[in-house]
Amino acid sequence: MTDLDRIFEIKKEMGEELLILAHHYQSDDIIKTADFVGDSLKLAQYAQQNKSAKYIVFCGVYFMSETADILTEDWQKVLQPAITAGCPMADMADKEQAEKAWEVITEELGCDIVPITYVNSKAEIKAFCGRHGGTTVTSGNAVKVVDWGIKQNKVILFLPDRNLGRNTAYDLGIPLENMAEYDPKTESLEYSCGKDDVKIVLWKGYCHVHHKITVKHIEDARRIHPDAQVIVHPECQFEIAQAADGKGSTEYLINQVKNGEKGSKWIIGTEHNLVKRLKDTYTDKEIYILDTSSVCTNMNRTNPQNLLETLEDIQKGNFEKQVKVDKAVAEDALKSLETMLSLV
Ligand code: 13P
Ligand code: SF4
Repeated sequence: MTDLDRIFEIKKEMGEELLILAHHYQSDDIIKTADFVGDSLKLAQYAQQNKSAKYIVFCGVYFMSETADILTEDWQKVLQPAITAGCPMADMADKEQAEKAWEVITEELGCDIVPITYVNSKAEIKAFCGRHGGTTVTSGNAVKVVDWGIKQNKVILFLPDRNLGRNTAYDLGIPLENMAEYDPKTESLEYSCGKDDVKIVLWKGYCHVHHKITVKHIEDARRIHPDAQVIVHPECQFEIAQAADGKGSTEYLINQVKNGEKGSKWIIGTEHNLVKRLKDTYTDKEIYILDTSSVCTNMNRTNPQNLLETLEDIQKGNFEKQVKVDKAVAEDALKSLETMLSLV
């Protein structure tokens, strides 16, 4: 019997007690086992709404499992099969660095700040935002949430993804010259406009998978497939987002292809598992990956073997792979997540 066969058997045995969630970047094998597949926004909403599963097995990366733990009830346990699968971008901001940034920005700009953190962040950063009247954001609701931030009439501190922050703020009419950058390594602020004209401070963090996509990738792809549409995830750099025909969250990328005309051609700048699945699903369209090296090794750490081990552990009462956020951190982080969820 294969690991997958045994996973399906256990799913049957456990029924509604067990919920398997998977992010779109997971491998096909993992996607087959999932009760629900989504982007980070949909998965967070789904976890919050589910009131029947005692065990939620999250096939994704650590910040997603933490979010699910914060949004679920105390009697629900969140477990992550690849417990060491983190997100290098989320690790680019910690609580001490955020407190220091607050001090530097307040001192230098003499302004009020509203912090907005991408959900791709540590729970302690979400808690920092919750304590300071801020919120979380995902790529799927970035326009709505950053617009909310603009309406607070304060300077937005957007962390940890500089690219998502810049792409979204620009779409909402904030010129590039009114965007400052904060470098947590040097604890310094860089900006070219007057102090009073800074509208948003972008944390110098990035996702290496999307950040390394270049304009040359787009130029080369357009040369080979001149009649294709190039669409990219907003974690790509500003120049890439501008050079593409469209940009948006994982959900947006999927919908563009799904709703595209028969025979249409798509070149997609995001994680390879998703692009491969779109290619296999929408065989009436031509689908290519923009950069073949777009692989998130962390997302790819989950496999049928560690998923099966996790399910067997649950049945034995072993919760070694449980993701549990400290209670005080979870309380503050919940405030920022709830603000976001009330906006979408
Ligand atoms: P989504 O918010 O689009 O699901 O993206 C999550 C992610 O990790 C992208 O790199
Ligand atoms: Fe993090 Fe990038 Fe991987 Fe998404 S693709 S989990 S942002 S490293």
